[in-house]
Amino acid sequence: SRLQMFVDELPLIPTVFGYQLVDGKPMPRSLTIGMFHKKWKFHQDLPATPVFAYGTSELTATVPGPTIEALHGVDTNITWQNHLPSQHILPWDPTIPTAAPANKRGVPTVVHLHGGIHEPESDGHARTWFTAGFEETGPAWTKETYHYPNKQQPGNLWYHDHAMGLTRVNLLAGLIGNYIIRQPEVEVPLGLPRGDEFDRTLLIFDRDFFVNGSIFMNTTGNNPTIHPQWQPEYFGNVIIVNGKAWPRMTVRRRKYRFRIINTSNARFFRLYFSNGLEFIHVASDSVYLEKPVITNATLLAPSEIADVVVDFSKSESSTAILANNAPYPYPSGDQVNEASSKVMKFIIKSQFEVDRYDVPDRLIKYSSPDLSSASRRRYITMFEYTTAADEPTHLYINGLSFDDPVTEMPKVGSTEVWSVINLTDDNHPLHVHLGLFTALDQTELLGEEEFKNCMVKLYDADKCNVSRYARGKKIEVPAHEKGWKNVFKIRPGYVTTMIVKFSYIHVDSSYPFDATAEPGYVYHCHILDHEDNVMMRPMKLVNDQ
Ligand code: C2O
Ligand code: CU
Repeated sequence: SRLQMFVDELPLIPTVFGYQLVDGKPMPRSLTIGMFHKKWKFHQDLPATPVFAYGTSELTATVPGPTIEALHGVDTNITWQNHLPSQHILPWDPTIPTAAPANKRGVPTVVHLHGGIHEPESDGHARTWFTAGFEETGPAWTKETYHYPNKQQPGNLWYHDHAMGLTRVNLLAGLIGNYIIRQPEVEVPLGLPRGDEFDRTLLIFDRDFFVNGSIFMNTTGNNPTIHPQWQPEYFGNVIIVNGKAWPRMTVRRRKYRFRIINTSNARFFRLYFSNGLEFIHVASDSVYLEKPVITNATLLAPSEIADVVVDFSKSESSTAILANNAPYPYPSGDQVNEASSKVMKFIIKSQFEVDRYDVPDRLIKYSSPDLSSASRRRYITMFEYTTAADEPTHLYINGLSFDDPVTEMPKVGSTEVWSVINLTDDNHPLHVHLGLFTALDQTELLGEEEFKNCMVKLYDADKCNVSRYARGKKIEVPAHEKGWKNVFKIRPGYVTTMIVKFSYIHVDSSYPFDATAEPGYVYHCHILDHEDNVMMRPMKLVNDQ
């Protein structure tokens, strides 16, 4: 029995404010947000689904969790509490490097604020996990209450689980939410659509369900004798937006701003409107663009954010389907099927309206990426290892597991060039905690096999003479992805060069916290099934001596 599309209304995600007004003045706020085991209706015809949900109480917990609205320059403190049961609701795999409570009870969790610029102790490092009531904590755990200074540029962040080896299952279970940093004095003058009605978040993910409503996840791995449960990518056929399967939304004939976040484990979306409406990009990930960019389709990898304005007054039809035509796995897989090729439906009212909101010619200009200021170049190489039958067993960065000693130690305040070499067949969205980066160049590797044979022996791009191979086709970075980002899609068989900054981009000042503290940060592929096994590496900031 197939679920009918476009029958549930798009839910409004509840908001929790990360600041308080005292005599009209915004002041820091301390919040407690829990993780609860409850049931969630993803579709009116699907029985309620057991989920893990974030909320200020069990009753108000939602999937996705509440949107946290923070104010630039005003601290938000959050105590993330685990109220989850002793057993996980989904299968997982103890043979990959995984959080392991000694008493074998409880669901390890830890929260990362994705795109946040904050101290390492509050970053949700994979080894800082904790179980219910902080009964057990991971080897790198330091504290219960996280501190987010919100001193960075205004923009879109999101929060999600990051527990070692369980990130893919904890997000699948529902541990996802949106976090916005607003800076009204900078943003309101832009004149973009705003307010609860015209400024909306669309948090998208794919899932599969059993007929009883439970989330379906394969209990058997693709190489069960090596990893009993781990699968290289999770794909579901049901597309969920803001917690409802293929919802619909009635819109007025005017402009709306949508902050579209792909929170899938592994699915890429190439979004487009069935009636040709355009996306006017105003920001990507957590940073405004300098100028708006118009596209007809936008490709979003897991964890990427498109912040767009859509002008429904341009619609020649009374409905528009937000559709998807990205193959999966991306880019080497088959075409999308009918179910996952639709995301949601907009029903456009017929009456024309006066719209006081618009998109300005100029948005926000930040410091430009400056190659000459780079203190060093690093090669970051992505490898996939397979069985003789070509079934993936694990994925590593630079041939190293997560527990190998840290090799990336950028200086606080520095700029570095990272050349990311993808020797696999998949596109991997690379996410670097703390840093912001701009992709400069994508160059195809010629003679990739020969280069790869050298790399799997030496694991050294210089010794393997990468510049001799990186001479192929060059692919332009799309205009709407040319600004500062925190995730970039790394093309298979290419070397992607990006400039990474470990300082603020909006002001010339250092971080208001000690970025060199333990437990440090991480960087990783944001395909969660890859991140868990174990396309993730530690990263430690150091001081300039
Ligand atoms: Cu969105 Cu390290 O994660
Ligand atoms: Cu990956």
